[in-house]
Amino acid sequence: MNEPRSAVRKKLFIKTYGCQMNVYDSDRMADMLAHHGYERTEDPAAADLVLLNTCHIREKAAEKVYSELGRLRRLREERRRRGGEMLLAVAGCVAQAEGGLMTERAPFVDIVVGPQAYHRLPELLARRARGRGGVIDTSFPQESKFDELPRPDRPSAVSAFLTVQEGCDKFCTFCVVPYTRGAETSRPVAEVLAEARDLVARGAREITLLGQNVNAYHGEGPDGREWGLGRLIRSLAEIPGLSRIRYTTSYPSDMDPDLIAAHGEVPQLMPFLHLPVQSGSDRVLRAMNRRHSIDDYRRIVGALREARPDIALSSDFIVGFPGEREEDFAATLALVEEIGFAQAFSFKYSPRPGTPGAAMPGQVRDAVKAERLARLQALLTEQMRRFNEAQRDRQLPVLFERPGRHAGQLVGRTPYMQSVHVEAPELRIGDLALVHVTGVHAHSLAGRLVTRSN
Ligand code: SAH
Ligand code: F3S
Repeated sequence: MNEPRSAVRKKLFIKTYGCQMNVYDSDRMADMLAHHGYERTEDPAAADLVLLNTCHIREKAAEKVYSELGRLRRLREERRRRGGEMLLAVAGCVAQAEGGLMTERAPFVDIVVGPQAYHRLPELLARRARGRGGVIDTSFPQESKFDELPRPDRPSAVSAFLTVQEGCDKFCTFCVVPYTRGAETSRPVAEVLAEARDLVARGAREITLLGQNVNAYHGEGPDGREWGLGRLIRSLAEIPGLSRIRYTTSYPSDMDPDLIAAHGEVPQLMPFLHLPVQSGSDRVLRAMNRRHSIDDYRRIVGALREARPDIALSSDFIVGFPGEREEDFAATLALVEEIGFAQAFSFKYSPRPGTPGAAMPGQVRDAVKAERLARLQALLTEQMRRFNEAQRDRQLPVLFERPGRHAGQLVGRTPYMQSVHVEAPELRIGDLALVHVTGVHAHSLAGRLVTRSN
C-alpha cells in the first residue's frame, strides 16, 4: 500500500556499488523513501540522507566503504556548521557482513541495514530520530520486503530491472553471496507478472530478470505448482508492449531443457546470455565447488546454440584460485578459444574471509595472478573486438534508450547489448528500429536507420 506523500521534501543521495541487483534495490529504496518525503539528489553535500548501497564480493570492499564513510562524515560536519543535518546509512552486503561491527568501527553511522531488511528503512529512520546511537537491522525477516515496498509512480527506464530470485545455495568456495544474501528464494509468478505489467505501463520496453542465481528460479505459479524460469519467461512474453526479455546471472547446471528451448521459441528473449564458467580446468572447478565440468558447459552451450544459432555468450572468469597451476590456466585459455565469447568479466581470485577458498593451501602469488589475468584479458578483449567487428554491415534491431551527445542523435542497444549511436531525429526514446551498422568503435557501434519496426 502506498502511504500518503509527506509534505516536507528532503534530499536523498544514494551511491550504489556492485551488481545490477544493487541497482534495483537502490531504486526500490528511493521509491519507498519518496513516500516519506525524500527526493533524490546527485549532490551528496546537499543530502539530508546519504545511503551507501554496498557490495562485498571482492577484497577491500569494506575498507572502501569505511573510507567513503570518513569522507561523508567530514561533509556532514560542514553541513552542520551551516546549520543542516545529514543522516548516514549503509545498506547492502557490506552492511550485512559487518552488522554491529560497523557501528563499533564507525560509531557516527546512523543506520546499518541488510539486503533483506531494507523495506524497514522508514521505521529505522524513525527509531534513529527517537534514540541515540546507530540502528542496525541485518535480519532475514519473515515478511518479504517485496510485499512491503510501494509501487513507484515515476516513469520507468526503457530498459528496466526486475528481481525475481535472491540468495544462493551453491556455496562456490570463493564466494560470499550465500553468506550475505542468504538462502535461495523465488518470488511468486503472479507478483513478478504484476511488477512486469506495471513497468511496461510506466514505459519499460525491455526487462532484465535478476537473481544471484536467476535460472534456479522456482516461484509458485498461479496453478499452485513451481514454475521454472523458462515458463515464467513464456508468460512474460505475453505482456503487450514488452519487446525484450533478458535474465542474469545464470548458473550453468541450472540451464534446464525448458529454459534452453525458450531461447529458440520466445522471440522476445534476447540472443545474449551471461553464463559464468569461472575456469576451464575441471580440477579447479571441483575445488571451487562448481557443479559443472567443462564437458557439461560445452554441452549446455551446444544445446543453446542449437536452439538459437545466433546466441552470443558472456562469462565470468577467476584466475589464480588456490591450487591453479599453469596447465589449469592454459585450459581456461583453451576453453575461451573454443567457445568464443562476445563479452566477459575476469577477476584475480580474492580470498574472502570466512569462505573455504581463503583457507585452502596453494594460494597463488599476486604477481602470478596479475600476469594470468593480463593474458586472459588480452584474449577476451580480442574476442570482443572480433565479435563487434562481425556486426559491421549487418542490420540489427535496436531499442533506443537515451539521447545521444548532440541533437537528433539517439543511443540504443542491439540484441547483444552493444551500444549503437544513430542519427534519428524522427524517433523517440523507447522506439525499436532496424539499424544498419556502419561503424565499429572500441565500446560502441555507429549505425544508420533502416526502418522503424514498431
Ligand atoms: N551467481 C553470481 C555470482 C555473483 S559474483 C553470478 O554468477 O554473477 C559475480 C562474479 O564475481 C562471479 O561470477 C565471480 O567470477 C566473481 N567473484 C565472486 N567471488 C570472487 C572472489 N572471491 N574473487 C574473485 N572473483 C570473485
Ligand atoms: Fe556465488 Fe557461486 Fe552462488 S558464484 S552467487 S556461490 S553460484
